[in-house]
Amino acid sequence: MSIISLCFLLTLGTLNTKMMNVLIIGNGGREHAMAWKISQSNQVSKVYLAPGNGGSDSEEKIYNIDISDHDELINFAVSNNVSFTVVGPEKPLSEGIVDKFEEKGLRIFGPSKNAAQLESSKKYAKEFMISNNIPTAFYETFTEADKAHAYVNEKGSPIVIKADGLAAGKGVIVALSEIEAHEAIDHMLEDNQFGDAGSRIIIEEFLEGEEASFIVMCDGESIFPMASSQDHKRLLDNDLGPNTGGMGAYSPAPIVTTEIHDKIMTQVINPTIAGLKKDGITFKGFLYAGLMIKQGDIKVLEFNCRMGDPETQPILFRMKNDFALLLDSACNGKISEHSPEWEDDFALSVVLAAKNYPGEPEKNKEIVGSDFKSSTQYVFHAGTKKINGKIVTNGGRVLGLTGRGKTLQSAFEQAYNLTSIVTFEGAHYRKDIGQKAKKLT
Ligand code: AMP
Ligand code: GLY
Repeated sequence: MSIISLCFLLTLGTLNTKMMNVLIIGNGGREHAMAWKISQSNQVSKVYLAPGNGGSDSEEKIYNIDISDHDELINFAVSNNVSFTVVGPEKPLSEGIVDKFEEKGLRIFGPSKNAAQLESSKKYAKEFMISNNIPTAFYETFTEADKAHAYVNEKGSPIVIKADGLAAGKGVIVALSEIEAHEAIDHMLEDNQFGDAGSRIIIEEFLEGEEASFIVMCDGESIFPMASSQDHKRLLDNDLGPNTGGMGAYSPAPIVTTEIHDKIMTQVINPTIAGLKKDGITFKGFLYAGLMIKQGDIKVLEFNCRMGDPETQPILFRMKNDFALLLDSACNGKISEHSPEWEDDFALSVVLAAKNYPGEPEKNKEIVGSDFKSSTQYVFHAGTKKINGKIVTNGGRVLGLTGRGKTLQSAFEQAYNLTSIVTFEGAHYRKDIGQKAKKLT
């Protein structure tokens, strides 16, 4: 090969390589996992996390920035040559951060404020599902406690009481007795337990079955399905105790067979994107369907307009695609250029929570071992912060101990092995993440 053609090829190579700076908004385990995965792309120079947490910037290329105001984030994105922004949690989405970035001509992956209503109002989501024939539980909406109590008396238990607005995964009470249901109604409508988010409630038919989380990326037109996963919402083993933001997850979820996968696409995901379009809303971002599956039938428990936490940790642990390039293409409406590629391994993440979680968590406890990693293990940080070079607890769900293995059992062992390496005073965790699925594998 002549020197000239070599130079030509090298130049072409350089032109094809975009060195991108990426901004991620959020501070949880989900955002740490996103930053970790994006930073592995050889087309990424810097990953900024706003604000990140005590361990999210421990990898090369990842920088925490202490900014949360939306206008300041816009200024940061402009002055730091950010190629695109990704939004982790629901709150900034429901506040319209995507609309604000786009008004300034900035690329951002996430749904508009209008589209994010699918998550920010359960009433909106239920009405949307009913009018688009998307299978979901029967329900009624209430703002007055006496009418809600009368409805429970009529329907009996078990029954499910949900705050209409955002409540960090804690606004759902699965009442096994009528007494519990009446108490939940009083807490939400009379005692204002969730503030405005609980001033309107949904009372819903109790569904039995196996849960799964099904998340897709949508670029406004085309859909890229992520690997299936299953969260564990209850605080305690055997699905006992109160609902939390999620105590552990694994991927893939064997309950989502190829047949169920296809059903989810045709009965839930496609009609949702099409239904929104009919209402004049283009959906760009992550769409998460929380599903109940029973004997081949699926029903939607909830929609989220973001990736799940802790589902993201095992999902991205298995992703073979370059996540930064996927997101870049999604921002350009070109996600159809990519096909999903996953490691054959299972991945599993168990949440190490602080004392009192899901109540007010105990903070400032020193954490040991949180920088441990191996080829099959990683510790994703969530409620942590760094003080004088030490990592301490700073939230309810503190760390996501994540492992990978050829079988669900070996992923389980890899993740749980970390519980003897990483710890802090008051740490607690579920001992049974993925156990129910083992009989399906
Ligand atoms: P959601 O935030 O609506 O997904 O509810 C949180 C959790 O409550 C779900 O993951 C389920 O475990 C449970 N849940 C919600 N709705 C129902 C329902 N209709 N029947 C049974 N369990 C439910
Ligand atoms: N893991 C449940 C959620 O992210 O909403």
